[in-house]
Amino acid sequence: MSDKAILEYGGGRYEFPVIKGTEDELAIDIKTLRAATGMVTLDPGYKNTGSCESEITFLDGEKGVLRYRGYSIEDLAEKADFLEVAYLLIFGELPNKEQLEKFHNDIKEESQVDEEMKKILDGFPKSAHPMGVLSSLTSALVAFNPSCVDVSSELAMYNSIVRILAKFPVLVAWTMRKKKGLPLDYGDDSLGYVENIHKMMFKRPNQEYKRDSIAIDALDKLLILHADHEQNCSTSTVRIVGSSHAGLFASLSAGISALWGPLHGGANQAVLEMLEAIEADGGDTKKYMAKAKDKNDPFRLMGFGHRVYKNFDPRAKIIKKSADEVLGSLGIDDPILDIAKGLEKEALEDKYFVDRKLYPNVDFYSGIIYRALGIPTEMFTVMFALGRLPGWIAQWREMRLRKEPIGRPRQVYIGETLRSFVPLEKR
Ligand code: CMC
Repeated sequence: MSDKAILEYGGGRYEFPVIKGTEDELAIDIKTLRAATGMVTLDPGYKNTGSCESEITFLDGEKGVLRYRGYSIEDLAEKADFLEVAYLLIFGELPNKEQLEKFHNDIKEESQVDEEMKKILDGFPKSAHPMGVLSSLTSALVAFNPSCVDVSSELAMYNSIVRILAKFPVLVAWTMRKKKGLPLDYGDDSLGYVENIHKMMFKRPNQEYKRDSIAIDALDKLLILHADHEQNCSTSTVRIVGSSHAGLFASLSAGISALWGPLHGGANQAVLEMLEAIEADGGDTKKYMAKAKDKNDPFRLMGFGHRVYKNFDPRAKIIKKSADEVLGSLGIDDPILDIAKGLEKEALEDKYFVDRKLYPNVDFYSGIIYRALGIPTEMFTVMFALGRLPGWIAQWREMRLRKEPIGRPRQVYIGETLRSFVPLEKR
């Protein structure tokens, strides 16, 4: 096969290199397109555009494959813990014992958040959406850690990374505790990374914290499953903001805002609200299936469909199994799980969904587990952000180390051509 792609236009013939990834993905390298032809490409939603070369995450949407640094998501969800996966994503290899211990110790060293940050949190009404609060607090962290902006050395980069991995869970816990009216507290450095997160979120002021291994294991698995997903909307946002050298925390804050939307991470909240609405409406799943298929109705079956997965989302498979296990172990019989399973069964047999290759995605069952763990619905997307943190960091670090240029797409202008100014009195 030729390793060049030929473009013929307007009597000209142009050659562009075809590059091949390690999993045989092919791409036409059009870096010289505009200089050679004067043209740009047009690809709304970047459905066909590779924005970078990356060594972090591989996914094959047709085969339902997801791998972090070459390790299958099934293996990692089963055998690794979240901190190991974070290290793997960020630095490229699974850590040995010493590396993991050092990484964890470095994180613990940074696990304080400036007390002044509580005043910022105080300024938000209790009704504020936790994603807006989290994005603001992450941005505010810059002011308290100004050395994290200029990361020209790898050491400075490492320091910023351990700082945010340490402080972000505190912000997540504070965001939830504020919503629940609980006092804002710090973690316990004697605990594992995820156990500490669980304690920070759930410890009650007047009770001894009791280790809940079912909840901690479920949380660990969910965080791993959300940890990276190559160039999705929020990750692309983190990379593009970071490409202006805005700094890690500012880039992450932008990523959190991108994740918030219901077409992206916000879908987990939307799924649960949808399931609750169906239950309140008598459990008539057929009615909602019809609404989802009606082109005059804006309703979509939340938690279904994916830009890349056109077979199944491997994360959804693991989470569905986990939902059964967690609810079973906790002795919870949630009618919403039955509604979700009923909807899935109907959709998988429905021509509309089959033709469009719409399958349950990562968000379809995750909310059912979060709910069983006692996490409020509005916090679900925050939990997604907590899981995605190492992926965002890894992608940002890769972008900086590869010295990628500032992200700046082109456009095709379709507005008015030059016209004369009309004074106000004549308009
Ligand atoms: N319910 C009903 N119809 C749907 C749905 C859905 N959930 N998703 C896609 N379609 C239809 C869509 O109307 C279109 O139909 P037609 O070809 O007749 O116009 C066709 O399927 C293709 O959809 P699309 O919007 O062009 O596909 P996309 O790749 O641009 O969008 C998506 C992907 C995830 C935004 C979309 O499937 C969706 O809105 N799903 C619901 C929201 C959701 O669950 N999001 C979470 C995504 S996974 C977590 C993450 O990583 O963000």
